[in-house]
Amino acid sequence: MGTANDYILTAKKLYKSYVYKGGRVEVLHGLDMAVKRGEFLAVMGPSGCGKSTLMHILGLISRPESGVVTIDSHTVTNRNRERTQLRRTMIGLIFQRFNLISVLSAENNVNMSLRVRGIRPDGRTGELLEALGVAHVAKRKPSAMSIGEQQRVAVARALAHRPKVLLADEPTGSLDSVSGHALMDILKKTNRDDGQTIVMITHSEELAGYADRIVYMQDGLLVDHN
Ligand SMILES: Nc1ncnc2c1ncn2[C@@H]1O[C@H](COP(=O)(O)OP(=O)(O)OP(=O)(O)O)[C@@H](O)[C@H]1O
Ligand SMILES: [Mg+2]
Repeated sequence: MGTANDYILTAKKLYKSYVYKGGRVEVLHGLDMAVKRGEFLAVMGPSGCGKSTLMHILGLISRPESGVVTIDSHTVTNRNRERTQLRRTMIGLIFQRFNLISVLSAENNVNMSLRVRGIRPDGRTGELLEALGVAHVAKRKPSAMSIGEQQRVAVARALAHRPKVLLADEPTGSLDSVSGHALMDILKKTNRDDGQTIVMITHSEELAGYADRIVYMQDGLLVDHN
C-alpha cells in the first residue's frame, strides 16, 4: 500500500449524471481512481461510457454531483478561485475537440497559455513545436493548418507550462497512424525523462500499449484491464 503522497491524482466515489429534455443519464456511479506520481495511465471504454465526462471532472472543467478529487494532495473544493488556480498550475488539457484560439498563430496559442499563467514565454515554445513536428506552422493561424497539425499544437500548449498532470482525451483522434505513434513517442519521452504524469483516453489498444497501466471504464466505474 502506498501513502497518499504517492498519488498525484485521486478520485473518490464520483457520481455524475446529465439531465436533458426528456431524460436523465447517470454516467459515473461512484467511480474511484488513483494515479501515481509519474504514471502513464490509459483509459479505455466504449463510446458514450463517460470517459470525457471523467476527464472534464479531473481537469476541473466540470463538477461531479458528489465525490472528491485530489491533485497533488490538494483537495479540490467548489470555490471557483481555488479551482482556477489549481487548474492553471497543475493541469494540462488536450481535448477531444481541441480548441485553439482561431485569431492567434500556433506560437501565440502556446504563448498565450503561458501568459495567462504568469509565465514569460521563452525558447520552450519553439522547442515543443519543433519536437511535435509543427514548427513549420508556428506563424500560421489554425484555419491554415491541417486537423492533425492543430492537434499537435494543442499538445504543445498543454505541455508548455509543465503541468503536474497531463490529461489527454483521444490526443491521436485526428492523426494518421505514423503521426499517432510519433505523438505517443513524445508523450512517452516526457513521461520518462521529465516524470510527466499522463492520463490518456484512447480507443486504440495499440496506443494504450505505450502506457504503464490500462484501466477500462465499465458501468460508470474503472476496472483494471487484463
Ligand atoms: N450535456 C449532456 N447532456 C446529456 N447527456 C450527455 C451530455 N454530455 C454527455 N452526455 C451523455 O453522457 C454519456 C457519456 O458521455 P461522454 O462524452 O463522457 O462519453 P465518452 O466515453 O467520452 O464517449 P466517446 O468515446 O464517444 O468520446 C453519453 O451517453 C452521452 O450521451
Ligand atoms: Mg469522449
